[in-house]
Amino acid sequence: MFPVTRPRRLRRTPVLREMVRETTLAPSDFIYPLFVTFGDGVKREIPSMPGNFQMSVDRLLEEVGGAWGDGVRSVILFGIPERKDETGSEGWNDEAPVQRAVRALKRAYPDLVVITDVCMCEYTSHGHCGIVRDGEVLNDPTLELLARCAVSHARAGADIVAPSDMMDGRVGAIRSALDGAGFADLPIMAYAAKYASAFYGPFREAAGSTPQFGDRRAYQMDPANAEEALREVALDVEEGADIVMVKPALAYLDVIRRVKDAFQMPVAAYNVSGEFSMLAAAAERGWIDRERAVLEVLTAIRRAGADLVLTYHAREAARLLR
Ligand code: PBG
Repeated sequence: MFPVTRPRRLRRTPVLREMVRETTLAPSDFIYPLFVTFGDGVKREIPSMPGNFQMSVDRLLEEVGGAWGDGVRSVILFGIPERKDETGSEGWNDEAPVQRAVRALKRAYPDLVVITDVCMCEYTSHGHCGIVRDGEVLNDPTLELLARCAVSHARAGADIVAPSDMMDGRVGAIRSALDGAGFADLPIMAYAAKYASAFYGPFREAAGSTPQFGDRRAYQMDPANAEEALREVALDVEEGADIVMVKPALAYLDVIRRVKDAFQMPVAAYNVSGEFSMLAAAAERGWIDRERAVLEVLTAIRRAGADLVLTYHAREAARLLR
């Protein structure tokens, strides 16, 4: 009891604080999300995500070169295709922006870990994550299309594929398609507990993937549920997921912790677009200190139990940590 106990004793100098720090943050924890589009010399800023861009492959290479120099070792790619249709067929076109970007990145930076997002919503004219009939997103027929996308990404040279659609059974369908195509060693990072969240707004502007009718609540999870997240993760692990993800991160830190405690698996958390934009907007107004807030948020996500953090702050945080 006080005055014998005084927790402040270990807070007195920077070195002491560092010695007893429980959570580490390093550039190798980060995965940097990037938006790749068709054309040449394209670098369009996303209005709701200042400092983030839709880029053609040539400009993407420059951005990744800079990020690599800052210490970032992994990226996740989202595609903005030239054409969208009912089934999202550009998703498995070997010449589409993501596939071309993967080939170019692996050629220029062989050690970079290139992850691809596997979903239909960036490629469908209606903006939903699967095939639509009579206003409903069909689960089982979508699985084959997701598998085609994943195999196309694998052929291009992706190091990890990351399904984000939330169809039931997609991890198993993708796993067997990859195995059948000779990619048994390619890991799957499953967006296992992905919530129907308001915090994806800026991303949908970036990817042009806002649903043209309805919303995603019939396939993404209800924000009120945590036990269901554990069931979702268990299924994805059984189906062959190598890394499991919780998304978003900040309003779901409890879910990250429960997943980390329940599964002996690498856990990723997605510090999503809306989380990025809130922080950036407040900092722009001078309401918070951006650098301190970025490191605090990323540390909190790691403290909750995430091994990896997908974050639009990856490059700036890597620079701050040097
Ligand atoms: C595609 C996908 C989304 C995000 C990642 N993959 C959007 C969505 O589900 O509508 C969101 C990422 C972010 O907000 O940063 N399904």
